[in-house]
Amino acid sequence: MTAYRAVQGVKDILPEQSALWEHFEKIIKTTCGLFGYQRIETPIFEETGVYARGVGEGTDIVEKEMYTFKDRGDTSLTLEPEGTAGVVRAYIEHGMQMKPQPVKLFYVRTPIFRYERPQKGRLREHHQFGCEAIGESDPMLDAELISVIWSVYTRMGLTNLSIQLNSIGDKACKPGYMQKLIEYYTPLQDDLCADCKVRFTKNPLRLLDCKEERDQPKIAHAPKIAEYLCADCEEHFALLKQYLEEMHIPYTLNPLLVRGLDYYTRTVFELISEDIGGRQNAIGGGGRYDGLIELLGGKPTPAIGFGSGMERAIALLEQQKGTEIAEKQPEVYIIALNAMAKRKAAEFANTLREKDIKTLLGFGSRSLKAFMKAANASGAQWAVIIGEEEAQTNTVALRNLRAGADDDHKQVSLSVEEGLQTILRSVQQ
Ligand code: HAM
Repeated sequence: MTAYRAVQGVKDILPEQSALWEHFEKIIKTTCGLFGYQRIETPIFEETGVYARGVGEGTDIVEKEMYTFKDRGDTSLTLEPEGTAGVVRAYIEHGMQMKPQPVKLFYVRTPIFRYERPQKGRLREHHQFGCEAIGESDPMLDAELISVIWSVYTRMGLTNLSIQLNSIGDKACKPGYMQKLIEYYTPLQDDLCADCKVRFTKNPLRLLDCKEERDQPKIAHAPKIAEYLCADCEEHFALLKQYLEEMHIPYTLNPLLVRGLDYYTRTVFELISEDIGGRQNAIGGGGRYDGLIELLGGKPTPAIGFGSGMERAIALLEQQKGTEIAEKQPEVYIIALNAMAKRKAAEFANTLREKDIKTLLGFGSRSLKAFMKAANASGAQWAVIIGEEEAQTNTVALRNLRAGADDDHKQVSLSVEEGLQTILRSVQQ
């Protein structure tokens, strides 16, 4: 029988990588906490409407990428294709508008599902951490939120990162700009790539995001949103830039940055790694979504957030920092050479673990030589050997696996209690 393999576009997170994931998560939680963000966990699926309406019918995500299915009660459900709409649904459902605003929430290692063409950096299941700050329009909040993602990655020690920034206007000025864009593209329609022909009718803003070579000159000459911002949006954007400068967060203006989800208004941004080539170089992205809460049934409420792809960040960390972040090595490996010794070994292992000493037990019946090989391979500092004599006299042979070959004190025979104290002392040093 052929063995099963994981389905296309998904990845196992293997034990060798788990120390890095844990380290990453710890930094995320600490950093979000420092900024006053609280953790939220929403279900892995929602009623399809939450995303169809929230993310936008004309977007790639809703049109081509959602994992949508009917459950046994005939309700249409969708596996989370992004984190924001579910958080907004929860904000409305749990009356969070009654709390002091803004409500600042974060999520971490949230599985996200998108039926994308599998390629490097693009998975069908990936994990995001993200922040959503709901209930405030002050551009200082935008700057603070950008500062969260920037701080997480600088604390992780990642380098060669940059922030791309743009403002795409609000409901007062965005429609006027879209009209200009449509007017500009109308005579060029026949010459557009197949995808852009669809974008032209469904989502003209996305025309600016086309990566086809032939469409680049058209994009270069297209009207730019910055010239069409209303006075309020212009002021909001100017203040945001000032705050970012005060916070020493470097950014680059990118008038073509429009993002792939429909809910954005005003601020949009992406965190780009210069160490990743190709199109999948965004480690994170986000922006304001001042109309989304109302769209999903709440009162008009301004908000901003970002999501960051954790697999992409982990790949970068592996590339930039190698195996610097490794799992804690065991301190003790216990070898028992007969049945009675095994009982003593089980008891001693328990005592050590109660004292927070990472302890491995050698299983089965093997020769001392084979057990020693395993103890050395485990990375433990101490091998505790319990043979027939030790089991009868309540002693242990303690061998320091990190001592040099010619060290006379490499192995000592001690009472169980002395053995325990010796190990405890060495660990506390
Ligand atoms: P997004 O740009 O679609 O935004 O995704 C955020 C990040 O998730 C991307 O920058 C990338 O790092 C990662 N990502 C996206 N798709 C994949 C994939 N197929 N494989 C691996 N990584 C991927 C959002 O999802 C918005 N909800 C962000 C947001 C939050 N905006 C406001 N609040």
